[in-house]
Amino acid sequence: MNIKTLELIDNTLRIIDQTRLPGELVYLNLDNYYDIIAAIKSLAVRGAPAIGIAAAYGLVIAAGAKPNVDRAYMQQVGEELKAARPTAVNLMWAVDRALGALSDDSDIAKDARRVALAIHEEDRLLCEKIGVNGAALINDGDTILTHCNAGALATGGIGTALGVIYTCQEQGKKIKVFADETRPLLQGARLTTWELGQAGIDVTLITDSTAGLLMRRGEIDHVIVGADRIAKNGDFANKIGTYPLAVLAKAHDIPFYVAAPYSTFDNAIESGDDIVIEERAAEEVTEGFDRRTAPEGVAVYSPAFDVTPHDLVTAYVTDRGVERGA
Ligand code: MRU
Repeated sequence: MNIKTLELIDNTLRIIDQTRLPGELVYLNLDNYYDIIAAIKSLAVRGAPAIGIAAAYGLVIAAGAKPNVDRAYMQQVGEELKAARPTAVNLMWAVDRALGALSDDSDIAKDARRVALAIHEEDRLLCEKIGVNGAALINDGDTILTHCNAGALATGGIGTALGVIYTCQEQGKKIKVFADETRPLLQGARLTTWELGQAGIDVTLITDSTAGLLMRRGEIDHVIVGADRIAKNGDFANKIGTYPLAVLAKAHDIPFYVAAPYSTFDNAIESGDDIVIEERAAEEVTEGFDRRTAPEGVAVYSPAFDVTPHDLVTAYVTDRGVERGA
């Protein structure tokens, strides 16, 4: 996998600008933490683990840029980074872990760098483990449906849901993938088909509403998605459109898997009712990609995520193993 989604180079974070894919592979060099916040908000960097890693690097860059940096300043920067997006718990988890690792004021910049690099490397390894654990559920010749992008572009490694697919490929299993386009920002169409295509995986793009037809025809063996936050009871948030897929999978008796590292589990909340769902700007729906597709002034409701109840989940594929759901 030679997609370098995030890379710390001295005191600059280099990211792939995911808003420009698949047309152009361009990088952004972010040398201050507020540009990192802007990149998280605009989805130039996106996906739960990747925004956590970006925020950890934000702390490194903030510490490096501030003479006589102290804990209070880092705490304030951390709060700003955490506020960039509300739903993916990996963002809060990474910032809190990084802040918790700071020792003396004189060592803050060094400590922040050490822990951010460790979070990034750890995520790479977590993806590998998820890949191996998930691949054990998939047979040669199977067809997998996925939603949004839970791949290399969304993590510090090979991805979670897509990590399972890459691992199957490595094991010599021939897998066919259907990728939902993922309205309104098209992470499936723009990102998932791009990265699976780079890896030579057999991928077919479908509109979000095509899933039911394929399931009814018996063309889908498994659904695998990522997650942004998993509550204690197993309810989880993921990209809008995940919940209807889970309902469809249940109706057609198709296994529905959620692939996520331990950093996506939020043990502070009991159920999905406690997950804050981000709402996005109306323009992303009415004039996305510079083309107006709805009348001026129309009312819009655009939640970025939905919550899938745990009783629709067949199993959680994590770095620790496969935990059976309903
Ligand atoms: O709004 P996005 O593109 O950040 O949403 C991403 C998703 O919903 C992913 O499925 C999730 O973060 C898991 S990424 C391994």
